[in-house]
Amino acid sequence: MAIIAPSILSADFVNLERDVHNIEENGADWVHVDVMDGMFVPNISIGIPVVQALRRVTGLPLDVHLMIERPVRYVEQFVRAGADWLTIHIEADQPQNTLEALDKIRALGCKAAVSLKPRTPAEAALPYLKKCDMVLVMTVEPGFGGQSFMADMMEKVRFLRTTLDKVNPECRIEVDGGVDAVTQAVCKQSGADVLVTGSAYFKAADRAAFVKTVQQ
Ligand code: DX5
Ligand code: ZN
Repeated sequence: MAIIAPSILSADFVNLERDVHNIEENGADWVHVDVMDGMFVPNISIGIPVVQALRRVTGLPLDVHLMIERPVRYVEQFVRAGADWLTIHIEADQPQNTLEALDKIRALGCKAAVSLKPRTPAEAALPYLKKCDMVLVMTVEPGFGGQSFMADMMEKVRFLRTTLDKVNPECRIEVDGGVDAVTQAVCKQSGADVLVTGSAYFKAADRAAFVKTVQQ
């Protein structure tokens, strides 16, 4: 069964507690939290205080996706704020700092992940695979919800699944961007087992049915 992680980027921020409880009630598995700094991506979203606040109102795993420059500076604060999974981008810093950040995340008892923007080749993830609990393959340019799914990223997912089966078989693969009731199928067929859905979840006429479709 696949894991569905609705992204609160498409939630109503005035009613975040209501919307997170709604994610729980509809049977979803994780809550995906998009952190943007206006530097790594052109958008600014939410940060550490919101992760802390979410931690107080949900028992679901918080899947925190850092789209920020030099994330090593902040990983400890995000783990202490309540992240269960913490994803950093490999394009956001030098390799030695990315490795240090992954070690820090895991030493603090949190699950660690690296993410790849669409134009970053799958091979760029190879130095990090043994230090990861998950790899996030972006299926849109990071920064905004509601963009179109990039089907050509599925080749990257298949390559990473085959490689991970040899070097780190427990490692999950997450996809993020444009995942909806149609595109979810090819994601799972290609080897992804964690699917982020922002606008498709919040726009679904029957959210519980949508959650089941993605999970099965
Ligand atoms: C985009 C974010 C995504 C976003 C997905 O940069 O990382 O998590 O919320 O939104 P949809 O599912 O609408 O593409
Ligand atoms: Zn995301």
